[in-house]
Amino acid sequence: MSQFLRALPKAELHVHLEGSVPAELAVKLAARNGTPLPTSDPARLYRTWAGLADFLVTYEAVCAAIVTPADMAEVAYEAQAQAARLGNVRYREIFFNPTNHPSMTYRQQLEAVLDGLASAETDFGIVGRLIPAINRSQPVSVANDLVREVIAHRRDEVLGIGLDHDDSVGPAPLFAEAFALAARNGLRRTAHAAEAHTPGQITDSLDVLGCDRIDHGYLALADAAITARLRDEGTHVTTCWGTCCAHNPGRSQADQPIVEMTAASLNISINSDDPPMLGTDLGSEFVAAGLAMGWTREQGIAMSLAALDGAWLDDSDRAALRRSFEAEIAAL
Ligand code: HPA
Ligand code: ZN
Repeated sequence: MSQFLRALPKAELHVHLEGSVPAELAVKLAARNGTPLPTSDPARLYRTWAGLADFLVTYEAVCAAIVTPADMAEVAYEAQAQAARLGNVRYREIFFNPTNHPSMTYRQQLEAVLDGLASAETDFGIVGRLIPAINRSQPVSVANDLVREVIAHRRDEVLGIGLDHDDSVGPAPLFAEAFALAARNGLRRTAHAAEAHTPGQITDSLDVLGCDRIDHGYLALADAAITARLRDEGTHVTTCWGTCCAHNPGRSQADQPIVEMTAASLNISINSDDPPMLGTDLGSEFVAAGLAMGWTREQGIAMSLAALDGAWLDDSDRAALRRSFEAEIAAL
């Protein structure tokens, strides 16, 4: 079963570019650019995190090590190479935090990432699309400027915007103007919500920011009305098995919030969030979730296809990708 789950073709809707830097590459970039990291020992850089804030300290240090367009292209290529190799990932919508790299303009970053993604697509057949994400711990003016830049340098590969970092510090309504601007310009919208803090961030992300997906959402379960709304509206929730377990270390695998979300008939996908930083990859996420929930082969297949339903693809691209997944699955 584990082999089958690893071999399934996969799509991923919740993964951070800067959280996808292999430890050895992060140490190499930091040394080359003279930026500080908590340790220069790759074996100790990504460890067990004492919560989201602790995790984000290292995440931001890795962001700071990515200084030049060449760094950015290398990170994008490596992220995709690993995903294709370790999890048979075929399609990914990838967050990146442009405002965490002040040494480059948005446009320089965008072009470099697209170069890296294109090379990886050629070499490994994995497609990458982008979601520039607002860092909610930075000022609102920074978020508004970012969305203006995204609109000024519009590319088909950029599907929409996200909102990430610590949901205890940047309440969703602060970013209403940035999200409204994105909406008026035809950008899709999603937000990290109820990962580690209040379930009310889900309602605000839907109603104030106009999101059509929710990232994480585990604490929805603390509020029956919010859980019912997500189910009734069929809102796609991009869950991440390893992140969820990291937030709930006292709960057994079979008792994780994602198990309950599935039982509550929420519309979820399984994603890897920050794979090397969490010691995971999408293949391992499928294996861990599948074993915890006792998936049959059919349930594993359903989860592989669920991400396609939540993807920001147009309907003909979605149908084409689904056909290629179904053909590959039939041959497994
Ligand atoms: N949660 C919130 N913000 C983030 C994460 C995460 O897991 N990874 C990178 N930014
Ligand atoms: Zn995330």
